[in-house]
Amino acid sequence: MRVASIGIVVGIIGIIVLGIFNSSFAAEPHELSVDTRQRLVLAPAQRYMMLAEMRQMLGSVNGILQGLATGDLPVAEKAARATGMTGSVDVNPHIKARLPQQFLEWAMRTHRGFDMLADRIHAGSSQTDIIRELATLTGNCVACHAIYRLDEAR
Ligand code: HEC
Repeated sequence: MRVASIGIVVGIIGIIVLGIFNSSFAAEPHELSVDTRQRLVLAPAQRYMMLAEMRQMLGSVNGILQGLATGDLPVAEKAARATGMTGSVDVNPHIKARLPQQFLEWAMRTHRGFDMLADRIHAGSSQTDIIRELATLTGNCVACHAIYRLDEAR
């Protein structure tokens, strides 16, 4: 009898302790996150592909600037083309279905912008014009990053 009541008391304490732990640790609530940007939820592999494409875009910005800085325009052109429409992951229908229209439009505008920039570099545009284009183009990066973030579906 006594053993049974001790067991019950221990059980109740255990439940209370678990409850406290649960509310303070298990909760990693997005609702309480300081990051209030809109959450886009992708499957882990899709998110990985998107982020890889993002790093590729940053690589392109870097390559274009490197090319301009060293006067190596073919390098700049190649870097811009690498982020053009060809190979863009957000044309993948499975990924596309999970992204809002505004996001897709921004993404497409950015990919097309890199293609146009590659064309301009190829056509011999002045360095000032190329940099001006790049400034406009990177405005898309800044605008989109301010609004969206990517999460993994669990
Ligand atoms: C259509 C929207 C959109 C555009 C345009 C865009 N990005 Fe992103 N980018 C995102 C989102 C969303 C993330 C994930 C951010 C997060 O979850 O905090 C991201 C993440 C990144 C990352 C982090 C990658 C990693 O491995 O974590 C880099 C670098 C990046 N973007 C570079 C760029 C550059 C450079 C451009 C422009 C040339 C650009 N992005 C344009 C939406 C965009």
